[in-house]
Amino acid sequence: MTSARPATNWKAWLRRWDEQQASLLPSREVRFHVMLDVLEATVGRSPRVLDLGSGPGSLSLRILQRFPRARCVAVDYDPVVLRIGLGALGSFRGRLSWVDAKLGAPGWTDRLPGGRYDAAVSTTALHWLTPASLRQVYRDLGGLLRPEGIFLNGDQLAWGAEDPRLVRLAQRVRRVHRHGVKRRAGWGAWERWWRDAARVPALAVSFAEHERRRAQHPKEQILPLAAHVRALRRSGFRTVGVVWQIIENRVLFAQR
Ligand SMILES: C[S@@+](CC[C@H](N)C(=O)[O-])C[C@H]1O[C@@H](n2cnc3c(N)ncnc32)[C@H](O)[C@@H]1O
Repeated sequence: MTSARPATNWKAWLRRWDEQQASLLPSREVRFHVMLDVLEATVGRSPRVLDLGSGPGSLSLRILQRFPRARCVAVDYDPVVLRIGLGALGSFRGRLSWVDAKLGAPGWTDRLPGGRYDAAVSTTALHWLTPASLRQVYRDLGGLLRPEGIFLNGDQLAWGAEDPRLVRLAQRVRRVHRHGVKRRAGWGAWERWWRDAARVPALAVSFAEHERRRAQHPKEQILPLAAHVRALRRSGFRTVGVVWQIIENRVLFAQR
């Protein structure tokens, strides 16, 4: 007789994702909140939104909960987080779709549902892209967003060589965080999350693909804020500016 495998609690996996991300970034919910306020103030309460590097859908979920007529497309390249997001949130009563695509890679926009978007958003994700891929994504947003459409990027956006004293300040603050008990606990939670998820039988196939893709993944690259601003302006965004920040943790806003 074979014993049935217990059902995977996808919602619990999403909850644990949020917990480990919040322990690495204590201001995460405030940052989400600011991004939603800016969305509402610019493109209204029923936007069509692209969530770039969505992970298991934390930001999409907050948008869909706050704006009952909003629709989101969550894009990520990691089959593990996509599986968890799909299991936990499904299609959110037809308002959420999931796309497996590598941002900036040739043809990535062909995988998206057609039509223009009111907004593109992203959190803690775009620093994984190479500078060339990031510039490509910004150029592609020009064609994906409607006129007056907006882009919001919540991420570490660093000071650059033109501000050496601020660069050193940010480095010192990072050292303080790294030595802080909470921050160390945050990395522990991140590692435990991945170690425990790797043991979930329902994720075995996704993990095999995750490992295959990870082998080709570029290293994290923190581009200076000024490089993001420059690339966005070159891609046709007329208004570009920081709307929130704690040291280098910022929300960059851009409007077509
Ligand atoms: C730290 S997670 C953040 C997820 C989510 N935005 C959040 O705030 O919880 C970074 C995400 O970016 C995704 N990512 C990194 N590079 C990517 C790429 N080139 N294309 C698509 N997704 C990518 C990773 O797979 C991961 O899910």
